[in-house]
Amino acid sequence: MTSIVIVYGSTGGNTEMVAEYVADFLKAKKIKADVKRAEQSSAKDLLKYDACILASPTYGHGLLEAHMTKFAKGLKEIDLKGRPCAVIGLGDPKYEMQYHIESAPILEKKLTAAGGKILLPALRISRTPVMHLKGIIPHWTKQLINLLK
Ligand SMILES: Cc1cc2nc3c(=O)[nH]c(=O)nc-3n(C[C@H](O)[C@H](O)[C@H](O)COP(=O)(O)O)c2cc1C
Repeated sequence: MTSIVIVYGSTGGNTEMVAEYVADFLKAKKIKADVKRAEQSSAKDLLKYDACILASPTYGHGLLEAHMTKFAKGLKEIDLKGRPCAVIGLGDPKYEMQYHIESAPILEKKLTAAGGKILLPALRISRTPVMHLKGIIPHWTKQLINLLK
């Protein structure tokens, strides 16, 4: 059975909601999916799984969430050796438009630099995730499942 870990940083709970929702969807398709908070994990944990997802909202003019910022520093110390990876980014256009969901490209770059293989374009959630729970979130997760096979 394929195993996947979703590590997320979340200050307000939106990213946590998306991470849990994606994990439930993966589990329903018989994929072993663990969800971990960035502040309770280290980059080395990624090496215990076949694949990984990193999820972060954007804060402070195009930065990662604080716990994910710390977690991501550890990516410099590991080699993902071509492991399949994916990214979930959140944001809101009411903040500076040039940094809208900037967390997604930041995480993609860091995973690639760590030797990960990005499987598909990031799941980008703009504004509240609630309106996407029956739309792009399951749609993206289905695409991911097909690519993990
Ligand atoms: C102080 C602050 C700064 C933010 N900066 C950005 C930003 O630069 N770009 C963006 O797309 N969203 C920005 N956002 C929106 C958050 O990324 C968005 O609300 C997200 O859903 C929060 O996720 P969380 O609830 O998991 O923490 C900002 C929000 C706050 C409160």
